[in-house]
Amino acid sequence: MKRSGPVLVHNRDSDEAGWRNRILQGHCVSQMERLPAGSVDAIFADPPYNLQLGGDLMRPDHSKVDAVDDAWDQFESFQAYDAFTRAWLTAARRVLKPNGTIWVIGSYHNIFRVGASLQDLGYWILNDIVWRKTNPMPNFRGKRFQNAHETLIWASRDQDAKSYTFNYDALKASNDDVQMRSDWLFPICSGGERLKDEDGIKAHPTQKPEALLARIILASTKPGDVVLDPFFGTGTTGAVAKRLGRDFVGIEREDDYVRIAQERIDAIEPLAGDDLKMAGGKRAEPRVPFASLVEAGLVAPGTELTDSKRRYRARVRADGTIAVGDDAASIHRIGARVQGLDACNGWTFWHVKQGQKLMPIDELRQLARQRMSLAIGA
Ligand SMILES: C[S@@+](CC[C@H](N)C(=O)[O-])C[C@H]1O[C@@H](n2cnc3c(N)ncnc32)[C@H](O)[C@@H]1O
Repeated sequence: MKRSGPVLVHNRDSDEAGWRNRILQGHCVSQMERLPAGSVDAIFADPPYNLQLGGDLMRPDHSKVDAVDDAWDQFESFQAYDAFTRAWLTAARRVLKPNGTIWVIGSYHNIFRVGASLQDLGYWILNDIVWRKTNPMPNFRGKRFQNAHETLIWASRDQDAKSYTFNYDALKASNDDVQMRSDWLFPICSGGERLKDEDGIKAHPTQKPEALLARIILASTKPGDVVLDPFFGTGTTGAVAKRLGRDFVGIEREDDYVRIAQERIDAIEPLAGDDLKMAGGKRAEPRVPFASLVEAGLVAPGTELTDSKRRYRARVRADGTIAVGDDAASIHRIGARVQGLDACNGWTFWHVKQGQKLMPIDELRQLARQRMSLAIGA
């Protein structure tokens, strides 16, 4: 496959590093090779599908179906497609931060080959997502099932990458407090969102819906992160990233698509400030051990702890353990032992006296967290 020379397309919002918030025009492999190693937080890739169309696709009334028959989607053989896939996935893995993740979208024509290459190259598959289309194209010949979905693979850079971004609580909160599932329902890109040329013809055959990219970006990145799209097309990834307060870098070979994408992104107004804050649950909060409450002077050594019904008493030690008689251990273990249970949440079980009242030590933990966030300016 011929590689065009690398050309930087400038963008007003680009940073000093010269590649953030820009569209790099050229072959995705050579352009990714120019980016610094470990520099992007997430990758969304919508590579050629290799549809292998044998001639025009016709409707029963003999009209021609507007299928993806562009040169960029054509490969001589499965071997040629696999070699291309391995080349761009290798370049992408070098650019990805160690805790970054990659999304690749595809159809039955290519996604299984992409999945095998991802695993062969060391990526670790986290999920496959089925994007079920509410308005798919019919199967015109009536010889197969209607092809009503595409598959996304979400993978970490390595098997042992544990601290990749997954905004579990925000997704759950946005889904009526139910865990977000791996089957997503969205319409294909149509109506006002679909970019058209001067003659009203689709500007690109495979423009993805912004809602799909928004789900991906909100799930796996934080505001300020940088998202790379090596097959930028109309720049859907860049448009959504900009709106959601993320940076992007796009790579695209075709002049016309670069121009369309740049105009589209320039017109986007980013959301600001509080509108971008993510809902966080308990697991998003910083861990505060009981010892740090003692170190911070929020609980003095020698303080007596008791339960809400004042049945049990324990004494705080200088090392952050608590003791009943000579038996000293964590707030959780001592809480469990005095009740004869296997486990206990010491934060809600133990209380400190506040005058005549009792206050759960969990409230002191919240105070410690507030101080920590003020100290780091969060
Ligand atoms: C499936 S489309 C992506 C569409 C995009 N997600 C959107 O929403 O508009 C693939 C794009 O990759 C571009 N492309 C194909 N091969 C490429 C390569 N080797 N390097 C860079 N871009 C390439 C094509 O020109 C096409 O625009």
